[in-house]
Amino acid sequence: MRIVSGIQPTGNLHLGNYLGAIRNWVRMQDAIESDGGDCLFFLADLHALSMPHVPAELASNTREMVAALVACGIDPDRSTLFNQAQVPAHAELQWLLNGTARMGWLNRMTQFKDKSGKNREGASIALFTYPVLQAADVLLYQATHVPVGEDQKQHLELARDIAQKFNNDFCAEDAPVFTLPDPIIPPDAARIMSLRDGSAKMSKSDPSDMSRINLTDDADTIMQKVRKAKTDPEPLPGEAAGLAGRPEAANLVGIYAALAETGTAEVLAEFAGKGFGQFKPALGELLVAKLAPINARFVELRQDRGALDAILHKGAAKARALAAPTLDAAYAALGLVRG
Ligand code: TYM
Repeated sequence: MRIVSGIQPTGNLHLGNYLGAIRNWVRMQDAIESDGGDCLFFLADLHALSMPHVPAELASNTREMVAALVACGIDPDRSTLFNQAQVPAHAELQWLLNGTARMGWLNRMTQFKDKSGKNREGASIALFTYPVLQAADVLLYQATHVPVGEDQKQHLELARDIAQKFNNDFCAEDAPVFTLPDPIIPPDAARIMSLRDGSAKMSKSDPSDMSRINLTDDADTIMQKVRKAKTDPEPLPGEAAGLAGRPEAANLVGIYAALAETGTAEVLAEFAGKGFGQFKPALGELLVAKLAPINARFVELRQDRGALDAILHKGAAKARALAAPTLDAAYAALGLVRG
């Protein structure tokens, strides 16, 4: 097994990232050693160029994201932790795969439609070809499994399509260059929604900070955000079916269940008939209890820029070595002469 996944270092790590992806990364890292596999986790700083950005902020966010991932439990001695910018093979392989990816496939990507919005003509080329870089990220390492939230499923399907077409077009049947990766999407917290709108996913790009819980929020901020979260006037139902048509209520119950590592049914059994006046303080306290240790580690780690750079430096050296054979094979399969 080879686990590979990434996160954009644009802004804070939020609860959606944590429950949808990072907590799974940590679990996989802790479980995989006995199976003889390994994990690579990276900061998708090249992906961050797809949207307008401030260079100095990208640099500091990249280091902060390393601190946040380590605070969450990613161990740079056991997992390979790095940023794309220090491993040029990502950008190289993207170009090689651009010959295989089809316009029609990329035209169907919902993230491009969401992020370009009404301004399609003004969107960057990088935003359009973003999923090809994402395919390169995982194919480069022969990833077998990619832990992500629900929103990345379509990109992973595209990576499989690209790999399959490349193998068919350029490789002998018994010697494919790329492994087809499987997404691993958590059954419970695959899609954490905004605290202000139960139909929008919790996201770093939402202009309202009240819409998300950041892993850097202190206890008072967390309690306040939960208190102000949008809900409805009804009490909580006794069964999951009673949450139908109540997206905000369903989201808060889902967050509680994911944090408590239990199911919706168990949470509803405890809170059936109770209003949000009782449920919200309980959820706020649970959030504070789970996030406070992460927050404390993060605050300590973020101060040591030298240590954070050293983690990335070491991770990138490992990643470059792991990437080389696949990149070489891709060049060779395409008939590119390299001396
Ligand atoms: P990004 O940076 O938006 O998010 C990182 C991870 O967090 C998950 N996630 C969520 N899960 C549940 N609920 C939410 N509200 C929520 N918001 C985010 C995402 O699904 C993701 O797993 N394109 C990717 C980064 C990337 C990548 C890759 C991922 C680049 N190359 C290769 C996997 C493999 C992204 O922008 O994720």
